[in-house]
Amino acid sequence: MNAPLRTIQAGRDGARVTILDQSRLPHDVVTLDLTTVEEVAEAIGAMRVRGAPLIGVTAAWGVALALRHDPSDAGLARAAEVLIRQRPTAVNLRWAVERVAAAVRGLSAADRADAAWVEAASIMAEDESGNERIAEHGLPLIQEIARRKHDGDAVQVLTHCNAGWLATTAWGTATAPIYLAHQQGIPVHVWVDETRPRNQGAALTAWELARAGVPHTVIVDNAGGHLMQRDRVDLCLVGADRVAANGDVVNKIGTYLKALAARDGGIPFHVAMPTSTIDLAAIDGMMIPIEERDPDEVLGVTGYADGVPVRVALTAPATRAANPGFDVTPARLVTSLITERGCIAPTPAAIAALMEHDIR
Ligand code: MRU
Repeated sequence: MNAPLRTIQAGRDGARVTILDQSRLPHDVVTLDLTTVEEVAEAIGAMRVRGAPLIGVTAAWGVALALRHDPSDAGLARAAEVLIRQRPTAVNLRWAVERVAAAVRGLSAADRADAAWVEAASIMAEDESGNERIAEHGLPLIQEIARRKHDGDAVQVLTHCNAGWLATTAWGTATAPIYLAHQQGIPVHVWVDETRPRNQGAALTAWELARAGVPHTVIVDNAGGHLMQRDRVDLCLVGADRVAANGDVVNKIGTYLKALAARDGGIPFHVAMPTSTIDLAAIDGMMIPIEERDPDEVLGVTGYADGVPVRVALTAPATRAANPGFDVTPARLVTSLITERGCIAPTPAAIAALMEHDIR
């Protein structure tokens, strides 16, 4: 039997990691071996791996691979620099690199690569177990709505971008409670925002929900408000790339507009993420750097025709575009933060307590 598909796996030889190349999904399921920090950095920069938790896990392995080649302090600093500069918004990247660096800094050069390998493995394992906890903490939010439904009516969830298992080691964050509800026989239907310009919703979330047999429908990004007005959304459930100390949430561009529409309609807006996504150094969301991406992503679109990737232009040749990758959803629009340690209100006090103590 084939091994289950994973976003990332460590090689038994301790010299490579194998990733699922997400830039090829949903049309091609292709894996890629990475053996150097440069290859890992390229995979993160080109979004072959993406999603805040998975970027962190991949970068951790990147540091470990770098130390196999150069375990010196200079080698460690170079690896950290090349990895961290790939994606500025998702804080898990810096968090994971710094965690591995801290684990090896006091060791002799000869011991560093093995120690880094062990630390990267811990980060990866914790991501999976943490997401299982997120599933358990988020499930009651879906169960409560299911109890109020007529027999057999599905709980209607709206999600944005991909905060699924493809964005993590397993389970996903926003999708974790959805998968658990589905496993427990609770009828769930997911409205999947296509998430222009890179279409992570249409290409990735829809693909993984289909593989898991979760009923879902892709919608254009601007359809969410309309569906919410017509009572066709029971709750919004999204991920995060960074959460500030005051509870502001930075996530894929367009998240803020969904939260505004949800507030107008009195619809709960929940954000699921591991505590490694919380950045206490960011006092509020406006302090968080927003990745500005290539305008070409807006000016055209890539699809598949006859099994071959095809890029088509959407605009006249002289048209210019701007492409901010993320936006800030103010804490006041967020109903709750679902983390591996529990479900909390997005307030400075609750976040500080969560980060100080394991409130499980
Ligand atoms: O640019 P991407 O695809 O890395 O953006 C991903 C998102 O915005 C996700 O919602 C976020 O990283 C959370 S993933 C669990």
